[in-house]
Order: sequence, then structure tokens, then C-alpha cells
Amino acid sequence: MKSYEIAVIGGDGTGPEVVLESIKVLDAASKKFGIRLNYTHYDLGGDRYLRTKEALPDSVVEELRKFPAILLGAIGHPDVKPGILEKGILLRLRFELEQYINLRPVKLYDERFCPLKDKKPEDVDFVVVRENNEGLYTGSGGFVFKGTPHEIAVQESINTRRGVERCLRFAFELTQKRNKENKLTLSGKTNVLTFAFDLWERAFHEIGKKDFPGIKRDYAHVDATTMWFVKNPEWFDVIVTDNMFGDIITDLGAMVQGGMGIAAGGNINPDGASMFEPIGGSAPKYTGQGVINPLAAICAGQMMLDFLGETEAAKAIENSVIKVTREKIKSLAAGKLGYSTSEVGDLVASGL
Ligand code: IPM
Ligand code: MN
Repeated sequence: MKSYEIAVIGGDGTGPEVVLESIKVLDAASKKFGIRLNYTHYDLGGDRYLRTKEALPDSVVEELRKFPAILLGAIGHPDVKPGILEKGILLRLRFELEQYINLRPVKLYDERFCPLKDKKPEDVDFVVVRENNEGLYTGSGGFVFKGTPHEIAVQESINTRRGVERCLRFAFELTQKRNKENKLTLSGKTNVLTFAFDLWERAFHEIGKKDFPGIKRDYAHVDATTMWFVKNPEWFDVIVTDNMFGDIITDLGAMVQGGMGIAAGGNINPDGASMFEPIGGSAPKYTGQGVINPLAAICAGQMMLDFLGETEAAKAIENSVIKVTREKIKSLAAGKLGYSTSEVGDLVASGL
């Protein structure tokens, strides 16, 4: 029997609750498809930080590095200053484990949950490939004359040829694998960011022309991209973009697919430890009430199985999520599901 070692970080707020449901579904799928997942739980997040004053010990990073996959609930605690846990845990893991891709599928499962008029599941089905290790996120920059009237703050966008190229290659390969429209759209800002996106654009066309001649290359400025997300989401197949733009457009993507209750993402290192998460955050006000939607975390688990190569089991989870979304759930929003958090987990697990 094939077995996989999985690190689990429930994290803060509703994170542990939704991860529990994700594991429930993963276990049901494992049973059905004859695989085994062994979980190792890590206590990380705001509570641990408040207790120990340490967000993420070096030794834990080294341990996590050895897992093929990590399932993450949520990071973010109301008593911890914004930035500390995000930088100290989430971004640190993305960087140190070289999870250089942030993969965000935007797929509408049921028309009822789309805020766009007259858009159907077949109109909203694309993937955003966000560069996850560079750009404005590296922390490069600094202050001069801080606190004085003439202070200067510089925050630099770092774009290396190596970093851009590996992200583009991943995106081209994914487009090929999806085999939908065979179209890859670079989303950038070549009209203003004439250094960073010059590099991106040149690399995009060079790699595409030489190694992926079967993939159509398309370009959209990032501001226009947000416009098309709303107006013509059906134009997109795969989108590739930098870290900051990817952060912004994927929240819009999440809304277009029905909201944070259903949106999942993967932080991918194709050769190392990849981490899968619902992208909605820790939702502290719903903690412990059994009202949060676990579907996003269940979809994160599904992405994880797909990444591990268990495509059949992953597909079965997705089909069950689609069925539950279409036939059972009243709303994707916390508190309005029509079911409790664990009942939604049960529905997906039994529907496999
Ligand atoms: C995301 C989040 C993070 C990001 C935050 C929590 C640091 O918004 O995963 O999109 O900006 O990448
Ligand atoms: Mn974000």
C-alpha cells in the first residue's frame, strides 16, 4: 500500500476545525483508493508564539523540509501584531522550503455562488500561477531618516531570471497538462514597470517560443486582468504573474468562484515540501462554533493528493465537493451553510 507522510499545521482560529474535516475526507478517500496518509501534527501559530515568543523554531523548519506535503489550516491571531505570524511562519516556510509557486485554481462549482451575472461553471475555470518567492515579498529595502519629516521608505521588487524562469516553466507545463485552451496569459504591467516586466516578458516569449510552441502566449496588464475577471472570466485558461499582483488578483479570483469558503491554494516546490491551505484566514470570530465552511480546506487536501500523484482520489474528492456544493449547501459563507462544519465534512466523505 502506498503511504505518504503528511505534516499538519492546524494553526490559528478556525484553522484546526477545518483541517479536521479535510483529514476526515482525506482518510475516507485513502480507504477507498487504497493509500495511506500518516499525519504528524505541529503546534504552530499565534498561541504558541504568545506562549514561547518564538513563531517558528529552526528545528521545525528542518523537520518540515522532509515531508512531501504539509496541510495548513490558517495563520493569524487577534492578539499578535499583524505581520509577525505571516512573516514568521507562512512567508518563512514559503521561502525557506522554496515553495516558489503559489497555485490558485479559480473554479466555480455552482452558478448560485457566483457574484457575476449570467456566469456559469463553464465560464469560470482557470488557474493562477503566482510567483511565490520573489517580487515585493523578499523584504528587500529599508528606511532612511525614519521618523523624520523627510523619511524615505524603499520596498524593492526582486525579479531574478532564475526565479522568473522556473515560475514561467511551471506555468507553461501546467497549461500543457491542463490541455484546455492551451493558452497562457502573462499578467503584468509592462507599460510602467519597465524593468521587472521587461524581464518577465522577454523570458515568457523566449521560453514559450523555444520549448512550448503548442501553447498560445497572451498578455494582459494586471489592471485589465481584474477587469476581465469580472467581465469575461471565460477568456482565461492559465495566468502567470508575479508575487504581489498574484496576491491581489487571487483574492478577486476567490470571490468569482464563490468566496473564501471554497478557495484553496498550494505553495509548491515541485522537488520538495509543498504546502496546501484554504486561503480564507483564521476567522477568529467564528472559532469553535462549528459554523465555518470546511470546503476550502477540503479542496486544499484535494490539491495535495493531486500533487502527490493520487489523481483519482483527488478527482473523487472534487466530484464529491461539487455534488455537495450543488445539491446540499445553502451558502458558502460561514454560519449560512445550512449544515455544521463537521456535517459538511461528513457529506463530502460519504459522497466519495
Ligand atoms: C495569501 C496571503 C498572504 C500573502 C499573507 C497572509 C502574508 O494574503 O496567501 O495570499 O500576502 O501572500
Ligand atoms: Mn492574499
